[in-house]
Amino acid sequence: MATLTLKGLQKSYDETQVLQRVDLQVADGEFLVLVGPSGCGKSTLLRCIAGLEDISDGELQIDGKRVNDLPPRDRDVAMVFQSYALYPHMTVRENMSFGLEVRKTPQAEIRERVDAAAEMLGLEELMERLPKAMSGGQRQRVAMGRAIVRRPKVFLFDEPLSNLDASLRGQMRVELKRLHRQLDATIVYVTHDQVEALTLADRILVLNSGVVQQIGTPTDLFDHPANRFVAGFIGSPSMNFLKGEGDGESIHVGPIRVPSSHLGPVSLGVRPNEVHIDPQGAPATIDVIEHLGWELHLHLRLEDGQELTARVETSVLPDAQAGQVLKVSLGTVHLFDVESGQRLEV
Ligand SMILES: Nc1ncnc2c1ncn2[C@@H]1O[C@H](COP(=O)(O)OP(=O)(O)OP(=O)(O)O)[C@@H](O)[C@H]1O
Ligand SMILES: [Mg+2]
Repeated sequence: MATLTLKGLQKSYDETQVLQRVDLQVADGEFLVLVGPSGCGKSTLLRCIAGLEDISDGELQIDGKRVNDLPPRDRDVAMVFQSYALYPHMTVRENMSFGLEVRKTPQAEIRERVDAAAEMLGLEELMERLPKAMSGGQRQRVAMGRAIVRRPKVFLFDEPLSNLDASLRGQMRVELKRLHRQLDATIVYVTHDQVEALTLADRILVLNSGVVQQIGTPTDLFDHPANRFVAGFIGSPSMNFLKGEGDGESIHVGPIRVPSSHLGPVSLGVRPNEVHIDPQGAPATIDVIEHLGWELHLHLRLEDGQELTARVETSVLPDAQAGQVLKVSLGTVHLFDVESGQRLEV
């Protein structure tokens, strides 16, 4: 396996700059997850690493060697796309063997590698099937198998689970985690799914408009978001942002007080699970209730009109009704500069 290094990597299409000076070091065997809104440049970044797009500026290294000008087939990188892109007229075995056949790998070795990957992915029973006779999850596993048999230095996954239903995604997530352990592979993985990002990643890179916002462990990003964008992007339901005013001892959000030495206006972030039902708290009216089995998402309105979402266990408020007035207080809060959105110390 291998390390992956991006130094000031830039990508433009004509006038539009899609990636702005991306610096990144992915360690050998690391699982790096790439997240960001639609159109922020995630697929472009993967395609640049794979060699499917030219790099406009900067350097790309695999195992410390510059590969900017190396054609895709010589980079030893395998990419798994959202659309499985299997050959429809080939069986599972043929689909998985094809890349090795093209590279003139000896037949015995092809068989051995394909069988090993099939076992890893639970595909043994399906080897003679055609893609059209398989479910989405099975096809997705074949697409992964095709990448695995190549034993590339780096795996690139572009939203590989997004076509699957929720329960299959859950299963595949666990399989991916196991696969990563077995293969000891260096992986860059794009997803829109919060749970996938937080559970699979060693580190997460958050991208917005082609600019790296933060790179860190899931816990880093969750507990210490570098700015408002990351704070709002990581975590579901999203962090609440309230307008506050600091007097040097506490921040005032309507009648709510939060201890802090901050002076002046500030954006105060609080995760929905840190909004507590508290008889000593400030009044908040329930606007909308979302029932999610064991938890409720309460969309609340404070007396000054500001809105916030609380996440509480259903058993805490079994009879919650829209229009009901609750008392709430805030637990852990985050502060952000009103202008720049950068994180401030509480
Ligand atoms: N060949 C191209 N020519 C011009 N612009 C392009 C080209 N390919 C992509 N772009 C633009 O680059 C930006 C980034 O696209 P990219 O596909 O990398 O986004 P993404 O983060 O993968 O989005 P999504 O989450 O929707 O897949 C978009 O604004 C897109 O329109
Ligand atoms: Mg994309």
